[in-house]
Amino acid sequence: MEYIDLTTYLNDIMKRFYPIGVEEDGGVTRLGYTREEDLMHEEFVRIAKEEGYLVETDEVGNTFISIKNYDEYYLIGSHLDSVINGGGYDGVIGVAVGLILLKLIEEDNLDIPLKVAAFRCEESSNFMKSTLGSGLITGESYDFDSLVSQKGKKLSEIFQNRGLNEKPELIKGIKAYLELHIEQGRILENKDLKIGIVDAIAGNIRLKARIKGLAEHSGATPMSLRKDALCAAGEIITAIESIGKNYKSGTAVTTVGMIGNYPNSVNVIPGEVEFSVDIRDKSTKSMYDIKVEIEELIEEVCNRRCLSYDIKLVSNADSVVLDENLRRDLSKAAKDLGINHIIMSSGAGHDAMKFTKLTKAGLIFIPCNDGISHNPEEYAEIEDAVCGAMIILEYLKEAAK
Ligand code: GLV
Ligand code: MN
Ligand code: MN
Repeated sequence: MEYIDLTTYLNDIMKRFYPIGVEEDGGVTRLGYTREEDLMHEEFVRIAKEEGYLVETDEVGNTFISIKNYDEYYLIGSHLDSVINGGGYDGVIGVAVGLILLKLIEEDNLDIPLKVAAFRCEESSNFMKSTLGSGLITGESYDFDSLVSQKGKKLSEIFQNRGLNEKPELIKGIKAYLELHIEQGRILENKDLKIGIVDAIAGNIRLKARIKGLAEHSGATPMSLRKDALCAAGEIITAIESIGKNYKSGTAVTTVGMIGNYPNSVNVIPGEVEFSVDIRDKSTKSMYDIKVEIEELIEEVCNRRCLSYDIKLVSNADSVVLDENLRRDLSKAAKDLGINHIIMSSGAGHDAMKFTKLTKAGLIFIPCNDGISHNPEEYAEIEDAVCGAMIILEYLKEAAK
């Protein structure tokens, strides 16, 4: 198959997914375990059926396609859900690259057992918990009753209504897991490179903090007598930013991305504020140290302002190191094809993290424009994804010999 045809094929696939959950400003919203994510999986199945591929759905709603059935196989995958008002490439490009690999394997009659996976709910945007679909089939268990969607529905109810299984069987038969993803940062672009091969993926710790003050009359309550939960939260949020900025590892990031202010009224002192904290670093230990620092910070601010608070650990995922031999093989494949690349680590989480427990996992990055992601402006070059696909194919040809 000609390079130009591949680019067109991949572009056409991306165009089929794009209208699903699209917003007026061009962003997409396809939260995990919602109708929009279902529509993405339905489109994936439709494409697979048009090509005459086999389709399987597992006990948690992940979709797998392949040319035929295999007991042992290579798995390439990513996710089809998105953040709220995100971009069209995060996750989707990785699944679409799987489809072009199947096309190449079929057309060139290659003896490579490959399945392509679309995992459910990789983003933490709906339940504050990431990589649910890939996590469940690789042995993670979750407290389903405590996981509540943006619309207030328990994940346990959602699973029950959909006939899904909270404790599915582990996925079997994987010889190696591969994923292609946009970088979501600026390293490749700044170096003018098209490919990064990932050696490690940062973990995350997510907290939900609630500050309780007193909702009172904004005109009648003197400044000295207030228990303003939002002012306390403001102080805490900027200090959390500083903790991430100044942390000694130099790779830590701390984010408050969600906030709820109650009663959120112009003439009432904020009585209660709830906010999320997302802590990430390459080292699991430093994430836990930062967590303690943030807990102490919240305690100090609330005690000083005579407020009460509670902090819940909502989610935690350790940092992972990806398989060194697989990384070397992918790097060799890139070199054999004359493609310049670097070895780099990932600050974002990916489904690949979950497979390290079961098999060797490899992750390839392509650049995205200005490093922008989780944003309607997210954009990646289709040619770069094709380039990544070629490296994976080269690796598979060698590995499956
Ligand atoms: C995935 O997009 C993440 O939040 O790391
Ligand atoms: Mn994402
Ligand atoms: Mn992603």
